[in-house]
Amino acid sequence: MCGVVAVIGKQNASQLVVEGLKKLEYRGYDSAGIAAAYNGTLQLVKSEGKLVNLINKLKKEFNDKLYFKASIAIGHTRWATHGNISVENAHPLTSENKVAVVHNGIIENYEAIKNKLIAEGYTFRSQTDTEVLPHLFMKYIRSGNNLLQAGRLVLRDIKGAFAFVAMSLDFPNELFISRNSSPLAIGLGEKSNFIGSDAHSINHLTQRVMYLEDGDHALIKSEDVNVFNANDEEVNRKIINIKAEIGLITKGGYRHFMEKEIFEQPSVIPQTISTFIKNQSEINIDLNKLGFKHKNTLLITAAGTSYYAAMVGKYWIEHIADLPVIIDLASEYRYRKPSVFGQSAMLVISQSGESLDTLMALRHGKKLGLSTNAIVNVEDSTIDREVDYSLYTRVGAEIGVASTKSFTSQLIILFIMAVALGKKFNNLKTNHIKNICAYIHALPGALAQMLNMENKIKFISQNIKNAKSIIFLGRGLLYPLALEGALKLKEISYIHAEGFAAGEMKHGPIALIEDEVPVIMFLVSDGNEDKAISNLQEAHSRGAKIILIADKNCIEKAIFAHFKIEIPNFQDDFKSLLSPFLMAIPAQLLAYHIANERGTDVDQPRNLAKSVTVE
Ligand code: G6P
Repeated sequence: MCGVVAVIGKQNASQLVVEGLKKLEYRGYDSAGIAAAYNGTLQLVKSEGKLVNLINKLKKEFNDKLYFKASIAIGHTRWATHGNISVENAHPLTSENKVAVVHNGIIENYEAIKNKLIAEGYTFRSQTDTEVLPHLFMKYIRSGNNLLQAGRLVLRDIKGAFAFVAMSLDFPNELFISRNSSPLAIGLGEKSNFIGSDAHSINHLTQRVMYLEDGDHALIKSEDVNVFNANDEEVNRKIINIKAEIGLITKGGYRHFMEKEIFEQPSVIPQTISTFIKNQSEINIDLNKLGFKHKNTLLITAAGTSYYAAMVGKYWIEHIADLPVIIDLASEYRYRKPSVFGQSAMLVISQSGESLDTLMALRHGKKLGLSTNAIVNVEDSTIDREVDYSLYTRVGAEIGVASTKSFTSQLIILFIMAVALGKKFNNLKTNHIKNICAYIHALPGALAQMLNMENKIKFISQNIKNAKSIIFLGRGLLYPLALEGALKLKEISYIHAEGFAAGEMKHGPIALIEDEVPVIMFLVSDGNEDKAISNLQEAHSRGAKIILIADKNCIEKAIFAHFKIEIPNFQDDFKSLLSPFLMAIPAQLLAYHIANERGTDVDQPRNLAKSVTVE
């Protein structure tokens, strides 16, 4: 993971690098650092913890708003992989105070390189895999190579997934950059150039951006950018214009980004809906582009919350379109020999468009001959650029690490896709589609109604905040919600939480039930509710504290529940297919309020990052 930024050709390069890092903390936030060439020396400032610690240190040490006057600077925000969280392991990593490198990814063969370099007399000060990079650069520069030649020799030595920027005092007007699997963007300015892990981190500096392709490397000067492919041939990569950013994204009066993102769902979901439903009931998804010419099996892969959206999608597509769907965790998919028998298309789901597991699964599917599609929030992200067809959630930047509005918007697209497939392959009639579209248009209002239940959810949160372990249950369509509820809770409150299919309780998990263990069940009247209520009763009779999130009918049946959150009734069976949207809100609010009660860092929980770009 990690975020890298670099600036060349601007007098206040170090200040601009820090501005860029502010926008990259979603990639990691356990330490940060910056290196700049100033007056023939390498200025290096690093600190543990969030970026704010680095900023304070820079202000204190340099006692000047501009930190130091340098026209070349590189910076990094870290999510530790190799080596604990410490100043020594923070980037930039250096060699002989002359070469500095910031790196995102993992150098897989670092051990062997490190041993060789130690034997050659290089001293390692960190436990990171990255430190081999500055020493390798140093070694090759010492033996007479310029920065470009040295960089090429380094690339021959290393294996792994990486995006890095290197600078050397011997070449004070140049940066060497390269990428393999990890993202890297070059921003083109006036007599200045910029590097960032994503285009967003540099779009306050320029709107002209070029993305490196895998295996590319480049030499960046203030007035020149030369890009080369893996065969060292100079190449032209497409320059695209990105949107200028007006200021930083703010919390808009909310305490946390997560709270803001939960509460803005009723206002941003209509953007997703209007992209895919035109004129009230015309579905705007191109099934030919999706690669669906016949009644094939659809493969969906994703990670984390996006995977739970995929689970709901499977249920809908099979139910509404009668098409078989296989779902797979992205981190597992390419490490099997998956059969593509009966498949023609794959769909990946990713908020960031950068999760490396998902990207690798996508590339594997492509290799196996599948047409590739993505539900993605970040336009121009790596996944967006690599798939044949993208469906954008368009809910704006999601800053809180725990995914909220992305989940509900992914669900919207999956539901609309199920309806489109149902029309083509399962004889879903135009009139019926009109009704379904009316239900979809009513969803933002229903979400707003769910948000009005906040006080009740807050009350329940206060009651269960000290639990050591919390169990979430759901059946059918609401089983993925149980998994998502547990994931949200553990991510931000650090309480151990597990989601189970209610019917599976008796096959093992019921052993976890003891006095006062909170059991949270999502339930709607779908014809199977009595079975689920029996599962709940079994937990109740063993002392569990029961929290039921359900419609009126179920709540009346489960009078034994200790806490009840009533969701609006669904008038017909089809409409009840939409229950996961509504249930997502109490799941999100419960996690949010429990975390608040416990005083954790809601937006940047420990050990996590918003975009996971390591395997
Ligand atoms: C990380 C985040 C999760 C997220 C997952 C997938 O693990 O902490 O909240 O669901 O990545 O992210 P994506 O951007 O691919 O949807």
